[in-house]
Amino acid sequence: MSRFRHLISIDDLERDDIEHILSKADSFVEIARGEKSSGILEGKILANLFFEPSTRTRMSFESAMKRLGGEVINLGSVEASSIAKGESLADTVRVVSGYADCIVIRHYREGSARFASVVSEVPVINAGDGAGQHPTQTLLDLYTIKKEVGLKNLRIALVGDLKYSRTVHSLIKALAHFGAEMLLVSPEALKLPDELKENGSFAECDLEYAVENADVIYVTRIQKERFPDEEEYRKVAGSYRITAEMLKNSSAVIMHPLPRVDEISYDVDSLPNAIYFRQAFYGVPVRMAILTEVML
Ligand code: NCD
Repeated sequence: MSRFRHLISIDDLERDDIEHILSKADSFVEIARGEKSSGILEGKILANLFFEPSTRTRMSFESAMKRLGGEVINLGSVEASSIAKGESLADTVRVVSGYADCIVIRHYREGSARFASVVSEVPVINAGDGAGQHPTQTLLDLYTIKKEVGLKNLRIALVGDLKYSRTVHSLIKALAHFGAEMLLVSPEALKLPDELKENGSFAECDLEYAVENADVIYVTRIQKERFPDEEEYRKVAGSYRITAEMLKNSSAVIMHPLPRVDEISYDVDSLPNAIYFRQAFYGVPVRMAILTEVML
C-alpha cells in the first residue's frame, strides 16, 4: 500500500513518511550502483516532462527506473513537441498519462505540478515548479545528511539565493520536522521570504560564522532565470563564494544541489568536506524509493 499517490510538495509528507522513504532508499543503494540487479519495475513506464533544463534530476530518474527494470519515455525538447503548436499543459498531461504509469514533471510555473496531478490518470512527481518546491531533491538532501552527519541536533547553514531556490524552500520545511537549527546566509536582496519562516528555528548570520559553527553548509546557485531583469541579477552575481582557504579549520560538510556556477571554488572538491558529488549519486536510490512507492 503506497503512503502517497503523488509527490508534489514536501508538505504532503509526515515525518514518518519521510523516514520511510529514507530507509527504503538504503535498500536500493547496491542496485543504484549496478552491483545488484532488480526487475521490480519491469513492465512499468515513466514519462519525463521537463519544461526546464535538467541534468541530474532527469537522468537520475532515468537511471533509477532502468536499473529497476522499467522503461522511460521523454517529452524531449519543448520546441519539438506539440506544446510548440500551442497545446495546453492540461492536454499534454492528460494524454501522456495514458502512455505511462507515472509522470515526472519540471515546469517554470509554480503550482504546475499540483495542477498536473489533478488532470493526470497516473501518479505525478514534482521535479521542480518554478521557485516553488522540489520535494525529491529534499528527500535526497535529507538522505545525504542522514548518511554523512546524522539528522539529530543538526545545525545547517543555508547559503546563497534563499529567495528563489526551490531546493531551499522544500528543504527547510522538512528540516523543521527534525528540529534542525537553520542559519541563513544570503545577500540582502536574496533573503528567505518571511512566509517560509513560519515553522522552524532560523537565525541570520554571515558566512564566516556559518563555516565555524554549522555541521552542514548547503550552498545554492543564484537562480538567474527567476530574476525579473538582467540588471537585478548583475547586482548580486558573484557576491559569495566558498573557497578551500575558508574551510581550513572547518569540519562542516559542504552540500550543493548542483549545478555549481561560481559559488564553490573548484579547490574545495578535493577536501573531505565536499560531499556534493556523493549527494548527486544518492538521487538514484532515493528516486528508486519514490518510484516504487507510487507505482507498486
Ligand atoms: C536545482 C533545481 O533545479 O532547482 N537543481 C537540481 O535539481 N539539482 C538547483 C539549481 O538549479 O540551482
